[in-house]
Amino acid sequence: MPETATPASASTPQEAETTTALGKRSIVLVGMMGAGKSTIGRRLSVRLRLPFLDADTEIEAAAGMSIPDIFEAHGEPKFRDGEARVIARLLDSGPAVIATGGGAFMREETRSRIGIKAVSIWLKADADIIMRRVKRRADRPLLQTADPAATVGRLMSEREPLYQRADLTIWSRDVPHEKIVDECIEGLHALLCGGAAKEIPDRRGAT
Ligand code: S3P
Repeated sequence: MPETATPASASTPQEAETTTALGKRSIVLVGMMGAGKSTIGRRLSVRLRLPFLDADTEIEAAAGMSIPDIFEAHGEPKFRDGEARVIARLLDSGPAVIATGGGAFMREETRSRIGIKAVSIWLKADADIIMRRVKRRADRPLLQTADPAATVGRLMSEREPLYQRADLTIWSRDVPHEKIVDECIEGLHALLCGGAAKEIPDRRGAT
């Protein structure tokens, strides 16, 4: 079920122009577990007056079971097939802001659907930030290993070359969430309404 945004204030011209320029396309957030895709996506949807959809939640609803249970009962390949089907359906229901699970963008078919029906944003984060955030939850089957930090490092090196194909890259870091959302909107506006920012400058050192 989409979460419908209830905006607290009027949109800025930049937000309104971005939503208009998107037309029927969605915004899809990709990136590693713990990068903040759901947290930022939810806030971005409010600012752009679009529904928010979380692919992991939709997969769980479609399967009637949790992601760890899907992995345990059916294995990762079946989870990936279901994930691709659910994301295809969500893209057909756009426009929306869609947060995807960290492995979804690895599948060629899903990347090409996203390329046609959406604008993609890679929320990029350093390994130490990812590790700090993923430690808060124990519901990620891929991290139930003897050395989760090594697993995160391996997944990052396998996945980053593909995440890099997203239309925009935004650095996710420990600053107020609204700052990351501002940068997403700034990047989307430049991409869709003029300018051509593919990557908003790395502002990790800035306050
Ligand atoms: C996965 C990430 C998870 C979830 C599943 C697999 C991955 O989503 O889809 O546990 O392969 O990176 P989040 O990225 O939202 O944690």
